[in-house]
Amino acid sequence: MSRPRNVEIAAEKALEGAILHLRGRPVGTVASLDDSVEALNYDECFTRDFAVSAVAFLLEGRHEIVRHFLEVLVELQSSEKHMDCFRPGLGLMPASFGVREQDGREQLEPDFGERAIARVAPVDSGLWWLILLRAYVETSGHGDLARRPEFQRAIERNLDLFLTPKFEMFPTLLVPDGAYMIDRRMGVYGHPLDLQALFFGALRSASELLDSNSEYLEPVETRIGHLLHHVRSYYWLDFDRLNEIYRYRQDEFGADAVNKFNVVSGGIPTWSMEWLPLEGGYFAGNLGPARMDFRFFAQGNLMAILTSLATPEQADAIMTLIENRWDDLVGQMPMKVAFPALEGRDWELMTGFDAKNVPWSYHNGGSWPFLLWLLAAAARKTGRIELASRAVEVASRRLQRDDWPEYYDGRDGRLVGKQARKKQAWTIAGFLAARRILESRGDVSAFGFVDQPEVAACTLPWASESREEDEE
Ligand code: GLC
Repeated sequence: MSRPRNVEIAAEKALEGAILHLRGRPVGTVASLDDSVEALNYDECFTRDFAVSAVAFLLEGRHEIVRHFLEVLVELQSSEKHMDCFRPGLGLMPASFGVREQDGREQLEPDFGERAIARVAPVDSGLWWLILLRAYVETSGHGDLARRPEFQRAIERNLDLFLTPKFEMFPTLLVPDGAYMIDRRMGVYGHPLDLQALFFGALRSASELLDSNSEYLEPVETRIGHLLHHVRSYYWLDFDRLNEIYRYRQDEFGADAVNKFNVVSGGIPTWSMEWLPLEGGYFAGNLGPARMDFRFFAQGNLMAILTSLATPEQADAIMTLIENRWDDLVGQMPMKVAFPALEGRDWELMTGFDAKNVPWSYHNGGSWPFLLWLLAAAARKTGRIELASRAVEVASRRLQRDDWPEYYDGRDGRLVGKQARKKQAWTIAGFLAARRILESRGDVSAFGFVDQPEVAACTLPWASESREEDEE
C-alpha cells in the first residue's frame, strides 16, 4: 500500500476520535486532542476549523454531522438587537463552542470572542456557515434545510451584519486585526484578502440559498459584482502590474485617477521586486488607502481560485506562482499561511513583539497543513493536479509521524511548530480532504463556483470606467 494511503487510514481514525457530541448527537470536531498541554479552548469546536472537517465529511458522504453543526450555529447565532458593545451584535455567529455539563444536562457554550485570547471576535464564522450550508445542500441534495424559516432568517441576519453600510464606500469588508484564521495581531486589519475571498464565497452561497422572493437577493447580486471587479482589478499583482505600481504618480484626484488608492511606490518592499517571477501572479494580501500589503496569503489566493473570484487566467497564474516558488510556499510542509515573514522592526511594530509570531513561526511565515485541502481543490479546479499530488506526498512523509501538528516552523517548514498542538483536527481533516479530492471521489464543485463574467454595471461608481458608460 502506498504511503499516502496508509496515512489516510490513520487520519480517518484520528478524525473520528475528534468528534464532539451533544446529548449523543455528533455536532462538530474539537480543535485538538492533545492532552499534553493545557487545553485552553482547544477542546471546543471552532467554526473555521470545523469547516475543514466538514469538507472531509461531505466528500465521504457523511452529511449528518455537518447538518447538526449547521443547526447548532443557527441556535447560537446572536438574535438580539441592542446597542450594548459587550454583547455579540445581531447576526454574529460564534468563533467556537464547547459542550459543558450543567444541572446534569449537556449544554452548548458559545464564545463570540468574549473569552478568546485578546478578546477577538470572529468575522469569518458567519461566512464559513454560509459556504458550508451551500456545500451541504449541494452534496446531500437536501435543499429543504436551507429553506426552513429559521435558516432563511439566519442567512438574512448574517447578511445584515455584512452588508449594512458603515464607515466606508468600498465593496470589500473592513476587518479588525485578528478576526479570522490569523487571530493574533499580524498587520492584517483593513481589507485582508483572506476575508474578501470568504466574503465572496459567502455572498455567492447566499444568492443560491435565499428564497427567490427575498429582498436580500438584489443587494447580494450587486455586491458580488462590485467585489469581483474590485479584487480582480486592484488586488492583482504580477510583474507587469508591479512595474505599473512602481511608476505610479501620487495624490491624483477625481474619477480618472490611475493610482486609485494613492499607493506610494516607495513602499514596495525590496523582496517583492526580486521575488515576483516573470510568469505567475497573485492577489496582494491587503489593499486600502495608501496601503498595499505585498505579502502572499495562501488561504485568500486559493479560496479566490475555488470561488472564481479569480478569473481563469488569474487562477492559472496563481498556480504557476506556487510552482515557481515551491520552496518558499510549500517547502517541507504544505503550506505557508503567509509569505514572507515579518522581521525586525516590522515584526516589532506589526505584531506588537508577539513571541508566538516570531519570524517563520505560527501565523508569521509558519506552515499550516490544513491548507492542503484548499491547495488540492484549487489544483483540481485549474487542472494542475500534479502540484497537489506532490504536496500530499510531501505532507504524508511527516504528518502521521509527527502526530498531526497544528503548524510547522522554519523558512522551509521543517520543524514541528514551537507551540504546535498535536492531534489537531483540521490538520487531519485537511490531509484527508486533499486525498479525497485527488481521488475520483473528489468533485470540488460544491465548495466552489463557476466563473461569473464581470458585467459593466458592476464597475465601481467612483471609478472612471463606469462614468464613461454613464456619459454615453
Ligand atoms: C488558533 C488559530 C486559529 C484556530 C484555533 C483553533 O487560535 O490561530 O485559526 O481556529 O487555533 O485551532
